[in-house]
This record gives sequence, structure tokens and C-alpha cells, in this order.
Amino acid sequence: MRALTSHPAAPLSGAVRPPGDKSISHRAVIIGALAVGETVVRGLLEGEDVRRTIQAMRAMGVAAERVDGDENGNEWRIHGVGIGGLAPPEDVLDLGNSGTGARLLLGVLAGHPITATLTGDASLRARPMDRIAEPLVMAGARIDARRGCRLPLTVIGAAEPMPIDYRLPMASAQVKSAVLLAGLSAPGETSVVEPAPTRDHTERMLVHFGADLRVEEEPDGARRITLVGQPELAPAEIDVPADISSAAFPLVAALVVPGSEIDLPGVGMNPGRIGLIQTLRDMGAEIETSGEREAAGEPIADLRVRASALQGIEVPAERAPLMIDEYPILGVAAASARGRTVMRGLGELRVKESDRLAALAEGLAACGVGVEVEGDDLIVEGAGGPPPGGVAVATTIATRHDHRLQMSFLVMGAAAQQPVAIDHGGAIATSFPGFVDLMNNLGAKIDTEAA
Ligand code: S3P
Repeated sequence: MRALTSHPAAPLSGAVRPPGDKSISHRAVIIGALAVGETVVRGLLEGEDVRRTIQAMRAMGVAAERVDGDENGNEWRIHGVGIGGLAPPEDVLDLGNSGTGARLLLGVLAGHPITATLTGDASLRARPMDRIAEPLVMAGARIDARRGCRLPLTVIGAAEPMPIDYRLPMASAQVKSAVLLAGLSAPGETSVVEPAPTRDHTERMLVHFGADLRVEEEPDGARRITLVGQPELAPAEIDVPADISSAAFPLVAALVVPGSEIDLPGVGMNPGRIGLIQTLRDMGAEIETSGEREAAGEPIADLRVRASALQGIEVPAERAPLMIDEYPILGVAAASARGRTVMRGLGELRVKESDRLAALAEGLAACGVGVEVEGDDLIVEGAGGPPPGGVAVATTIATRHDHRLQMSFLVMGAAAQQPVAIDHGGAIATSFPGFVDLMNNLGAKIDTEAA
């Protein structure tokens, strides 16, 4: 899939289920591999990122297979080997584009007495790993990195891992999860304190597998998570909800293409993930939730979205951890809103699959949208209707091989006055296989002609 062009769309309509949650899918494979016995996962995201995690677990002796003939259920069986039961991999583990896969696996490996080398694609090799290495070294792992604590790096797991009490220097669910996963192998209690709440999928899933984990509030309001080490994890059944970070693309498309109304059933509503819904509602979006329920300890709901006249607002920095992956698509919503949207505290966006703060600002500007970056804040001047779009005013959008930028600018094309072309759509498959067909089924006009 090379260049893609998205043309202004007629009203979007219909019901579509976005693919399984990426964060939960990684955790289901990894924690399932550490249980003793067979875990069943339905609705697993079969994107490239999760496939890399499956391959890595297989390389360490975990059997994982897809249930045959299950075309729509995406059902997998993971044969867990128990905590401490992973075998040393014979080859380098290549996590592709996946920061979550790499960082969570480093946590697991830190608590196993084995040596493994991890690498990834050019984007992943550019991302910081010192934030992970610091607590894992405290827990007794050795980390050998030649390139300033970036991949490729070799982890020599601790033969006798130590429980640690670690205060996260930044709001990161990946770092928190790595510490907890290392803590599974340590005797006694491992604690992580997070300054601001982040997605708690790891905590919920560990409890679902039978771990003893508690959450307390510190005097300063921070959240302290404590895990009792060396549990025997029992195999579990997991129904993976649709990924709210993927649902965000058709959701915003329906808000900004006039006359649209769509349904998105079975979407995960983890409190650490719903910042976009709150922000869009603050902007005037009509998003109805119904059918609230729970699966494998995760809240789920059905969403109905109607095209809405959005109003620019100020999005506070405290919101950032609750919608960290959604700023590219919020930028597209803001471009159609009336007035100025100010998004504060986006420093972490610079170390995602690309420097998303810079790339988003450049892409919006190329679409004729007024945009400015001030420190860690992004300011978007909304058009109060369809923004100009790409082809008439500029060139193909450079998406830096970043899946969320690729999908965001295709949504921009559906809402804009002129088509928007992106340089490449290849990264979309890391998190949202079938994105183009799903959007076109709703009424979008995305084609694969060269830009
Ligand atoms: C994720 C956490 C977030 C997010 C990423 C998935 C996770 O990263 O951006 O897409 O599954 O824990 P950080 O923890 O680095 O903020």
C-alpha cells in the first residue's frame, strides 16, 4: 500500500466494528504466555505489532495458534509456560514498529534468567529506552546498549530479581507495565507510583489472571500500584474490545462530514483511554454511549456518533495521558471546528512512532490549516466548516511511516474541500488492518492511486 488519496465524502452511515484493542492484545499474549495452561483470546488484533509480539513469545518457547476457520472471531490459544518458564531465544527478537511490544517484553525478560537481544524498525530504534532500562536495572537486570539506550539492545535477565518501589518520572503505561511484569518474577511486593493516571490494562489483566494487586492513593494524590510477586497465574478467557484509538478515526470522520451518523459497537472504555470522547463532547460532539458492560475486567460500550458543529476549546495538559494517541485525529477535528483549539502539554508526542507534534503541525499546515507549535502546545485555528484540504494548496502529506498520522490525514480528506493525499499508507496495518475498506464501507472515498 503506497500513496493513498482521500476525496471529500458524502455523509457517512452504517455500523462498523473497529479491530481489537492493541494495548489489550499485546497484554493478552504476554500475560497469557506467563500463565500455566491454555488462555483463549477472542477478538485479538491481528495487526503487525501484535504479530511481532506473538513471534517473540514463540521464539521463547510459547505455543500460540489461531483457531482454524475462525474468520471473524480472531480467536487465539496461548499455551502459557508459567512465570520464569521462557526459553532463551536463538535469534534476535524483532519487534518491528511496536514500542509497546518491545517495552513490555523488556519487563518480562528482566525477570527471567535468560539473555535476549531486541531490535525493531528504524522508527522503534530511534525511540528512547532509558525510561525502561532505569527501573529494570534497579530490579537486577543488565542492559547492554551501544546506541545511547536505544534498540538494538541486549537484556540479561536477573537470576534473582528484586522487588522495587519506583516512582515514574513521566506518565507512561508502558514503563509502569514493564515494572509490574518484571515484578511478577520477584519475591515480595513491587510498587509503581504514577504521577498522573494512565491506562491500567496491565493491572486489570493481571487481576483477571489471578494476581494479587492493589491500588492506593498517595498523600499527594498519585496512584500507587502494588503487586505481590511470584503468583501462579491461572489461564483465562479474554474478549478483546474494539480499540478506542482505532474507533477514533471513523468517529471523528462522522463528526466532521456533514450529515453523517454511524454506530461503533463494542468499544473499550477504559478510564485511561477516553480522553478523546470527553474532549470532543466538550467541543460539542454528539456521541451517545449505551449498552455499558464489562469483559475480562475492562469496561465496554456501544457508540453512536452524529455529525456535529464543533467549537474550539482549550485541552488541558492533564488530559494528555488519557488520550495520548489521539492528538493527530483531534487535530483534524480541530481543523473543522469554529475557533481556536489549544492542546497543552504534548511533549510525549515527540517520542511516539514519529515526532507527532512536528509532523501533525506540518501536515495540517500543508492542508491550509492555521497551526502553531508553542513549546509543548499545539494551537489549531479551526475553519468552522470543511478545511481547505491538501491537493489545491500543497502537496502530498509526509506521514513519516506513522500509522496514526496516515489515518488522520485520510480522515482529513473526507472532511475537506479538496482531496488529501498521503505519501504512504503502509504503517496502517500495524494497528488497523482493513482501515481503508472499513472507511469506504461507511461512505469515505479513499483510493490507492498514486498521488
Ligand atoms: C501504550 C501506552 C502509550 C501509548 C501506546 C500504547 C500501552 O505509550 O502511546 O500506543 O499499551 O501501554 P506510553 O506509555 O509511552 O505513553
